Amino acid sequence: MATYNIAVIGGDGTGPEVTRESVKVLKAAAAKFNFKLNFHDYDFGGDRYLRTGEVLPDNASQELRQHQAILLGAIGHPGVAPGILEKGILLRLRFELDQYINLRPVKLFPGVECPLKGKGPEQIDFTVVRENTQALYCGMGGTAHKGTKDEVATQVSVYTRMGVERAIRYAFEYCKKRRQPRPWKGLSEADRAKGLTGQLTLVGKTNVLTFVYDLWERAFHEVGKADYPEIKRDYNHVDACCMWFVKSPEFYDVIVTGNMFGDIITDLGAMIQGGMGIAAGGNINPEGVSMFEPIGGSAPKYTNQNVINPLAAICAGAMLLDTLGEHEAAHAIEKTVQHTTANKLKSLAAGRMGYSTTEVGDLIAGGL
Ligand code: IPM
Ligand code: MN
Repeated sequence: MATYNIAVIGGDGTGPEVTRESVKVLKAAAAKFNFKLNFHDYDFGGDRYLRTGEVLPDNASQELRQHQAILLGAIGHPGVAPGILEKGILLRLRFELDQYINLRPVKLFPGVECPLKGKGPEQIDFTVVRENTQALYCGMGGTAHKGTKDEVATQVSVYTRMGVERAIRYAFEYCKKRRQPRPWKGLSEADRAKGLTGQLTLVGKTNVLTFVYDLWERAFHEVGKADYPEIKRDYNHVDACCMWFVKSPEFYDVIVTGNMFGDIITDLGAMIQGGMGIAAGGNINPEGVSMFEPIGGSAPKYTNQNVINPLAAICAGAMLLDTLGEHEAAHAIEKTVQHTTANKLKSLAAGRMGYSTTEVGDLIAGGL
């Protein structure tokens, strides 16, 4: 029987409550689909930092690498200054484990209230491939003359051809493997007659960031032309992309973009798919160990009340199984979540679901 070792980092705030439900569902899926999961808990997070003074042990990524995947709850603690835990845990793990893709599906499930008038599950179903280890996140820059009138601060957006190209290749490959896109996915009848099967949109800012997005644009067209002629290539400026997310989200199939733009547009994406209660993502190293997380934060004000929505963490669990190759189990979880949003939950918002956190976990685990 296939056996997988999974590291679980519950983290801060409501993180441990949602990973607990996700683990519950993963165990039910393993029993039903005949594979074995061993879970190992790690206590990385704000409480541990405040207790020990250590953000992350030096051997953490070494140890995590012994697992087939990582499930993460949330990082961020009201008692710790912003940046310490985010950089010291989340970003450090993304970098050390070289999780160079942040994969964020934006999919509106049936029954979920969408803030966009006239849009439903048929219109909102696309995926953002965010580059996850470079640019403004790499930590280059600094300050001088701090606190004086001459103070300067820089934060440098560094991209390498290698880093850009591997993200672009992943996105083309993902677009190719994605189920046959439906006609509204940016492909006209004429496009389909030409044999095009999917659409990849590069989101950038070539009108201002003329060095960085010129590098992206050339890599995008070179790779697409040479290796993915069946994928239609499109381009949006990031500001226009935000407009289209609201006006015509049905236009998108797969998007590839840089780290900072990807961070921002996926919060907007989360809102049009029903909010942070449902939005999941994966920090992916296609050749190594990947880490899956609900993309929302630690929600301190809801902590330990059993009211937070665990569906995002449960969907992150489904993405984890998909990456391990347990496609059937992943699909079953997603279907059960869809059934639950369509028929059971009153809302996705914390405290207004009509069920507690643990009850939602029970519904999905039982529904499987
Ligand atoms: C995210 C988060 C992180 C990011 C923060 C917490 C460092 O916003 O996963 O989108 O900016 O990547
Ligand atoms: Mn973010």
